Amino acid sequence: MVNLHKGHKRKDGTDVGKLIHNMKEHDHVSVMRSIMMYSLTSLVTLIIAFAIFNYMETGVPEGVPEVWNARILDTSLRTMGKVILTLNYFGVHGGVTWWTRKMVEVMLTTLITGSPRGLGDDPELKIYDTKLAGVDVRIYEPTKGKNSDRPALVYYHGGGWSWLSIDVYDQATRQLAKGVGMVVVSVGYRQSPEYAHPIPFKDCLDVTEHVLNNGKDLGIDSSRVAISGDSAGGHLTAAVSLRLKKKIKIQVPIYPCLQLFDMQTPSYIENKDYIPGMLTDISMLTYWLNYANISYDHIDTIMANKHTSPALKKSKYADLISPKWYMKEHIRTESLRDMKKPTDFGDEKLSKEIEKTLLDPYFSPLMADDSDLKDMPLTYVLTAGYDVLREDGLIYYQRLKKVGVKVHLAHYQEGFHGMIFFFKGPIPFNVGIRAMDDLIQFLKKNL
Ligand SMILES: *[C@@H]1O[C@H](CO)[C@@H](O)[C@H](O)[C@H]1NC(C)=O
Repeated sequence: MVNLHKGHKRKDGTDVGKLIHNMKEHDHVSVMRSIMMYSLTSLVTLIIAFAIFNYMETGVPEGVPEVWNARILDTSLRTMGKVILTLNYFGVHGGVTWWTRKMVEVMLTTLITGSPRGLGDDPELKIYDTKLAGVDVRIYEPTKGKNSDRPALVYYHGGGWSWLSIDVYDQATRQLAKGVGMVVVSVGYRQSPEYAHPIPFKDCLDVTEHVLNNGKDLGIDSSRVAISGDSAGGHLTAAVSLRLKKKIKIQVPIYPCLQLFDMQTPSYIENKDYIPGMLTDISMLTYWLNYANISYDHIDTIMANKHTSPALKKSKYADLISPKWYMKEHIRTESLRDMKKPTDFGDEKLSKEIEKTLLDPYFSPLMADDSDLKDMPLTYVLTAGYDVLREDGLIYYQRLKKVGVKVHLAHYQEGFHGMIFFFKGPIPFNVGIRAMDDLIQFLKKNL
């Protein structure tokens, strides 16, 4: 705060106290005016500072000590969203296009690595881009150790099936390749809305099958292939596992989105305001709609769970994700722990229209029944306490456990969506460092 007491020096060196003391009668008005100007400037500065602070204020998960890193991350991503919306308002088509994708990628790459261009060469890795099964991939091969019969990880990046790229994940995939000493194949599957379900899934499946069938050429031991991905990539992981079952040695869905049946799970309700630049309930829903090729006109209807008919709400499908699967200890809001799910409402017409997609286990892996889930490979489910997708991941863990699949839960109470990026770089998070370390240790031991 600025004080106009005697002896206070202004920035330009004027001694305000002396000025007032020495003033003559006829100077009175002009001195008062300059004091007022001075106060006004200070006030405006304060208001701007307050507005910036207010704009940067965001829901930071309790237990995350890097509050300013969280604010920088969230503000950068939110601002990017606003710029795109503003351009859109002025008639520039700003939905999911090559240039909005590029903007988001450059922003996130900078936040992750500290440089808009990302990382340079790495002496410990041979990194090259190619195509496998006709799909773009980037391959990371450790230069140390043997170059045959190595374990491998096929990675499906996140970004709501619409955004982000192999490039944005470069730091994470390098870390995994070096940390575990395995080959990583990062998949540049085709994206929505241009390519809706099941094309991104098909691309991931094709690359993975190619890796399994051509291990020798790639220096890979086909019996030691893991698959992983985060967010939409976690979804693709669960969907590909459903098809390939134990041909895969380990599947690692990282805070996956696994169903579009119930948009009012406790985590969708209690977590939508935490680091919203990364993910909110609404942004997640728009991703689902891109992937399903369903019109944005239905956003409000689906958000309120009116897209499922009363009959569907009482069906066996509802049971697959019902509150009986919730892990109450991970739900912070007491009243949400014993949630009742009303079944007496819903849009019959819309429900009929989208039912086939909604109940397709390759679209909603949680819609797979027990007989389909029981042959899943060893699974490492990573979930975050402050993520709208927390319940999707936790229900998946519970259901796999129930049918006897070997499944390990890595739940991070103070975790948030996207945390896996930030194990180093300019805005690291302790929880991101731990999540990456734990995953590497698990793969080292089990792959
Ligand atoms: C989405 O659906 C419309 C018809 O409703 C169709 O014309 C269009 O090709 C579909 N888009 C994709 C990407 O499948």
